[in-house]
Amino acid sequence: MQRWKLNNIKMIESPFSLSGKTILITGASSGIGKSIAIACADAGASIFAFGRDQERLADTLSKLVCNSDNQNHRSFAVELTDDDSISEIMKSLEEEGVRFSGFVHSAGISTTLPLRSMKPDSTTPFMKLNVDAGIHLTKWITRKKMVAENGSSVVFLSSVMSVVGESGKTIYSMTKGALLSASRSLAVELAPKKVRVNCISPGVVETPMSGKAVYSRNEVALKYVQDLHPLGLGKPEDVAYSCVYLLSDAAKWVTGTNMIVDGGYTAR
Ligand SMILES: NC(=O)c1ccc[n+]([C@@H]2O[C@H](COP(=O)([O-])OP(=O)(O)OC[C@H]3O[C@@H](n4cnc5c(N)ncnc54)[C@H](OP(=O)(O)O)[C@@H]3O)[C@@H](O)[C@H]2O)c1
Repeated sequence: MQRWKLNNIKMIESPFSLSGKTILITGASSGIGKSIAIACADAGASIFAFGRDQERLADTLSKLVCNSDNQNHRSFAVELTDDDSISEIMKSLEEEGVRFSGFVHSAGISTTLPLRSMKPDSTTPFMKLNVDAGIHLTKWITRKKMVAENGSSVVFLSSVMSVVGESGKTIYSMTKGALLSASRSLAVELAPKKVRVNCISPGVVETPMSGKAVYSRNEVALKYVQDLHPLGLGKPEDVAYSCVYLLSDAAKWVTGTNMIVDGGYTAR
């Protein structure tokens, strides 16, 4: 990932700067979430990195630059499907007086499961992490005592699977479509609080998640997936830079949208 320096391009005066903003990012220990944390810190934000794995979180933190003395990066190892653990951390942050200008829900899990193998409760763990945890944290960071004075920007990592279909992707698509639908209603409901809510829908990005996907185990299937993307597969930073924009004041009139970042996957 090519790094750029805040001062070199006068980002502090730029509407694209995240200077002075505090941003909570889930999934910050890996892939897209990690890249978003790095790009947001480069743009001047203080990062609250949420993930499960302590070591991977520590690695993320070691890669976050500090452009100013008041940039304060912190990490939290938390199981996001455990509502009580989320509440415990958020309550203590509220008591500390932490206020968030942004929240990115990048933590997510995927599966490929044909309908014949689905059981009535197959969707539960996927809904719980991909959707419910994001909504739960949105509720926390938009509380009167936690939302930044100038408002906040919420970004959910959806997927092109929210707008197109693929065999075996019913469960994953359901969760990503739910984020898309939820973001629109939240955008309307939270606008009076100066809170914007948007989704980013990536195509296939090279991360540990896509590396574990069924198509990555088979050369022919991988070539098929690569060919679906006219610009080739994405890199985590391709998504991270879009996210920096949505979190910044440059996007102050953008809410309820779905930013498709997919190397042309859905242009066909
Ligand atoms: N990669 C793609 O091709 C692609 C395409 C479209 C959309 N997306 C979406 O983009 C987001 C990021 O994907 P990615 O490729 O970066 O995935 P990834 O590399 O597998 O990272 C997933 C992250 O989610 C965290 N996580 C998983 N289960 C959790 C749990 N129960 N509690 C707390 N954290 C948990 C992981 O934490 P630990 O590492 O600590 O376990 C990790 O930080 C996901 O929402 C995904 O659906 C990805």
